[in-house]
Amino acid sequence: MTRVTCIAPVNIAVIKYWGKRNETLILPLNDSISTTLCTHDLCAKTSVMASPEFTEDRIWLNGREESIKNPRLKNCLLQIRRVARDQTPNVIPESWHVHICSENNFPTAAGLASSAAGYACLVATLAQLYGVSGDVSAIARQGSGSACRSMLGGFVRWHKGVEESGSDSIATQIAPASHWPELRILVLVVSDHKKKTSSTIGMQNSVATSELLNYRAHQVVPGRVKKMEKAIMEKDFTQFAEITMRDSNQFHAVALDTYPPAVYMNDTSHSIVNLIHKFNAAHGQIKVAYTFDAGPNACLYMLESEVPEVVGLIDWAFPAKDMKINVLRGLQTERNVPKESLTGKLEMQPLSAGMLQYLILTKVGDGPQKLEGDFVHLLDKSGQPVK
Ligand code: DP6
Repeated sequence: MTRVTCIAPVNIAVIKYWGKRNETLILPLNDSISTTLCTHDLCAKTSVMASPEFTEDRIWLNGREESIKNPRLKNCLLQIRRVARDQTPNVIPESWHVHICSENNFPTAAGLASSAAGYACLVATLAQLYGVSGDVSAIARQGSGSACRSMLGGFVRWHKGVEESGSDSIATQIAPASHWPELRILVLVVSDHKKKTSSTIGMQNSVATSELLNYRAHQVVPGRVKKMEKAIMEKDFTQFAEITMRDSNQFHAVALDTYPPAVYMNDTSHSIVNLIHKFNAAHGQIKVAYTFDAGPNACLYMLESEVPEVVGLIDWAFPAKDMKINVLRGLQTERNVPKESLTGKLEMQPLSAGMLQYLILTKVGDGPQKLEGDFVHLLDKSGQPVK
């Protein structure tokens, strides 16, 4: 019996992936760039165990057994086994089955790229178990496209690649997390009960119907990727922030250009955009950037020095219910009540209480990591989920 447990990070794209040129292999229309978030605050954790006693492959996700028949899941397992057959045929006998148990350390309801962290963690853990070495981001990509970027820490680029096989559609690191340690990410988890269209379906519809997507993927993104890499290398926050906001806006414009339109941002999301532009304008400089994925939550990028003022601003503009203060998870910070000289310039009033569920403050972090010790596993010695 062998048992391995790893954690893997969430990533937030600053140049968005939206649209596939190959649905089965999950090959994107354009390159994308993301930052990897610190696993201390947000991560997926996965244990995998292989044993001659197991009669079939099984998987438990966030406490519930799920079907192993999910094609993306089956594919990741198949591919790791295929690489292992060539690279490390003696590590785990081919006839052995695996039990997989995975959970997130943040609520799935937060709508935060949980599939990216989940698939990255699955592939990283399987690679460890089977002793597979080398780049496995192309395997994680086949679980969920954005998962390939969670295989590395820091600032990451997913290259669309040109090969039909997808062998060059992989993630590479632009710079490690230590390159820009002052960068902070504040996630605003927006209250929303609407069921959303999944990224997978949404982007299929965009590929089929949006003319803007074609323009974006071929005419806009290549130039933006170059500028974004430069901004990251030079730690040029103004450039980094402006490209991030423009790219988020263009992605949502493509979503609206889809027929029928895919609406991911809600009124609170738009109020956040408005607030950030007003705040930056009041300072006469870009101090904060927003980005939104396929849901209403905002991810704000800023430098560490701005965090107390920005959290104070969010508390002022989006008050918590019952006169309480917004719950802040992750890193902790002072909150500076905004001065009237600032709020006067914003030309807006605080919104009604309870528009946000909570905030998560984090920074850029490392890639997947193997956990050591007897008590780290989510599966017990017989291969059942630990109660
Ligand atoms: C808006 O990676 O979830 O978050 O490849 O179909 O699993 P599939 O889609 P997924 O899409 C993520 C889309 C996005 C932008 C991004 O993360 O780049």
